[in-house]
Amino acid sequence: MTSRDIISIVDLTREDILHLCSFGAQLYAEDRSGQRLARIDSLKGKVLASLFYEPSTRTRSSFETGFRELGGFDPIGFSGTEGTSVAKGETIRDTIMMMQANHADVIVMRHPVDGSLQWAADVASIPVISGGDGRNEHPTQALLDLLTLYQFNNKKLDGLRIGLGGDLKNGRTIRSLTLALSHFHDVQITWAAEDPLGMPHDLEQNLRQRDVHVERKTSVAEVLESCEFYYMTRPQLERMKDVSQREIHALLKRYRIDAEAIAGFTGRLLHPLPIDSRLSEITADVAFSPVQGFYAQAEFGVFMRKALLYEILHDVPHALFSGELPHELQSGNNRIYRAPSGKLVGEKFVGLIESGICLDHLRLGTAQQIADALELVNRGAGVIAATWGAKSFLKTSLDALTERDLKTIALISPEPTINIVRDRAVQDKYVYLLCENDTCITRVITEDVPPKFYYDGNLRCRYCRRPYEIRNQKVLEDERQRFLNELAKSVHNL
Ligand code: NCD
Repeated sequence: MTSRDIISIVDLTREDILHLCSFGAQLYAEDRSGQRLARIDSLKGKVLASLFYEPSTRTRSSFETGFRELGGFDPIGFSGTEGTSVAKGETIRDTIMMMQANHADVIVMRHPVDGSLQWAADVASIPVISGGDGRNEHPTQALLDLLTLYQFNNKKLDGLRIGLGGDLKNGRTIRSLTLALSHFHDVQITWAAEDPLGMPHDLEQNLRQRDVHVERKTSVAEVLESCEFYYMTRPQLERMKDVSQREIHALLKRYRIDAEAIAGFTGRLLHPLPIDSRLSEITADVAFSPVQGFYAQAEFGVFMRKALLYEILHDVPHALFSGELPHELQSGNNRIYRAPSGKLVGEKFVGLIESGICLDHLRLGTAQQIADALELVNRGAGVIAATWGAKSFLKTSLDALTERDLKTIALISPEPTINIVRDRAVQDKYVYLLCENDTCITRVITEDVPPKFYYDGNLRCRYCRRPYEIRNQKVLEDERQRFLNELAKSVHNL
């Protein structure tokens, strides 16, 4: 695992995971036999950049503890962005470069936006380990959860029966844990939650495609009956806009884990923590019950992160900072090229522009809004915004569109057709794709992340990995196939 990034649990193999679990178990055994510092020379002189844009107690401290116990220096970085240049509008890209300029050997980062960690890894020439990105993934939490299961389940991860509860929709631990379990055989997942907190459709579909048995039950009692491990999670209040604590209380009512719910349960109760004391998804008395396994689970986090840091970093020389960004970061692969006629086109279509850009197939009534958002008039460009049948279009004498322009257009009207016109002829024509996940990093204009896709049987966003469906009716089947073939050729790594 030397110098690897840890961004999605899907990128690790079953063998990687089993190796990390067995190594984590070994570190635990060393610790218990008084050998906590047996590997103190492994990361001597190494620097960890710990970048926590979101609150953290366990993840940050366990990485830092693991790093110190392997002999690394005290970490650099931040916990909360107040007091950093992020508050002055600095991008993730520049912050990552600054950590490398400060001789970081590895980056651990947590960020509220989906896909931000893949972007950080694309920018960095040193390993990047995700400490969680938005609602997306938390791969090292999944690894420590698996180490916990491994330890509590006689070192076996096949044939597990796991129950899930709490908030399956807005948390990232469930996504990573269930995808991690998909590496193992005969895993049965059951869950019960109120609809707004239920398992996201794309995740359920992904798990089924990966041969995991997933079943929804109507009550916690039914789930507990069918599992040896119950994994409860916290309703992610901070990610639910316009939902009050009261409403969450109502959603949790039938699904809370209290003494009555676990009476008769002989398995283990796990939770990534924190438990929200205001919502009490697990009531206080349960913390004292013999089924409680979450405090031990948290310590397994130290062993797992120590194992990871060791595997990724020992014997790796310091990276020498080049001061340059990888050139591949400048552009995406999100344009479906269509055959331009190359011929002179009539008034109706190209009209008054000799040379410029014509945006076609815009959502009805959005042309003027796009012209305003692009500030075409202020940029000195001629503009015709019009509606023609069931679509709108926009012609402008602007010479070229930047990636920010293209995103601005696609945020207002998805999948616009862009025609580049030279001497009254369409020279280039493409449909621009932007990930549709509202909370994906590619949709944050100021981060300047060019959208990228890959194909693994599904077309997916490289950053948040959500599936994408091409909707533009004008794209011909062979144009679509050509686009997908190109993507399939260039695996999703840069
Ligand atoms: C989790 C997270 O941040 O996703 N915390 C953790 O790392 N143990 C879970 C949570 O916040 O609910």
